[in-house]
Amino acid sequence: MELPDTLRARVDALLVGRPIAQLAEASGRLTRRYRAETRDGALHLNDERAAAAYVAARLPATFAAVHAALQTLAQAMPDLAPASLLDAGAGPGTALWAAAEVFSTLEAAELLEASPAIRAVGERLAEEAFAFRPTWRAADLLADPTGEPADLVTVSYVLDELPPSRIGPLCEALWSRTRRVMLVVEPGTPAGWRRVLAVRDRLLAQGARVAAPCPHEAACPIREPDWCHFARRVARSRIHLRTKGAEVPFEDEKFSYVALVREAPSGRVSRVLAPPRGGSGKVQLKLCRPDGSAGEALVTRREGERFRRARRVEWGDGF
Ligand SMILES: C[S@@+](CC[C@H](N)C(=O)[O-])C[C@H]1O[C@@H](n2cnc3c(N)ncnc32)[C@H](O)[C@@H]1O
Repeated sequence: MELPDTLRARVDALLVGRPIAQLAEASGRLTRRYRAETRDGALHLNDERAAAAYVAARLPATFAAVHAALQTLAQAMPDLAPASLLDAGAGPGTALWAAAEVFSTLEAAELLEASPAIRAVGERLAEEAFAFRPTWRAADLLADPTGEPADLVTVSYVLDELPPSRIGPLCEALWSRTRRVMLVVEPGTPAGWRRVLAVRDRLLAQGARVAAPCPHEAACPIREPDWCHFARRVARSRIHLRTKGAEVPFEDEKFSYVALVREAPSGRVSRVLAPPRGGSGKVQLKLCRPDGSAGEALVTRREGERFRRARRVEWGDGF
């Protein structure tokens, strides 16, 4: 997965002239804080250096994750045509760029973000990039999760930065502003998945239904130490490589997510929960099924069209 050309060009322009050593140092600091899920009251992206490092080293991966989740959502709900977006904890506007790629119907966006440094970066990246003018708001989600109701509400890679006791009430407040879909994306770690599950449970109790990835509203059938997550391969640009001191020109971003909707989609299909394993004349799929169960399915050549479809599906697809 590559960033859209316009965004790629704007990211490169933003980083031009920045010393690599500075980006690498700030990126290393960010990684340590994210890995430790540090919650010390300070925003991770609290200065210009951290904001630049985020754009260089994390934006491509979080973009890929949100984009993949939105694409799956669009497949599950082909009639979904959101006109408005509310993005909470917007960072550099990642979800706005992903939503605009997936939904050409978008004509308004409100982005809530507490850090002036990353907000400034996001505003600069998005300047005159869309047919509409996004509204950026300085907002502390913990103090006042304001925002106008929107067709699509996104919260991506934000919950891991909040005190756990505040996540439920915040998500309920955002759900109350959701006209059609609320998408929560978190890192694809066991802890990220648990947070996604907690939001899922809490909003199901408020009458929400699930559009993706689960094809049902039953209790999650996955049992620890397993966890539900997906992955996207992300191309690393030259500056991305140098910021991370990496040599491999790609990375695999793992993410967990849930898309909650007001009305359940029709025609639900199973979700592929792991990379399919092929053998001669057979494909082994790990599936989450509309009846609320999960498990392995062996599809053999004898099943004709079903086998041909099984050979084409990828991790995260419907089957
Ligand atoms: C990891 S970044 C994710 C940014 C973007 N959503 C993405 O997916 O790339 C988390 C963002 O949430 C913001 N954030 C964290 N706590 C916040 C709060 N209490 N109020 C508003 N924004 C907050 C941070 O400043 C940061 O920009």
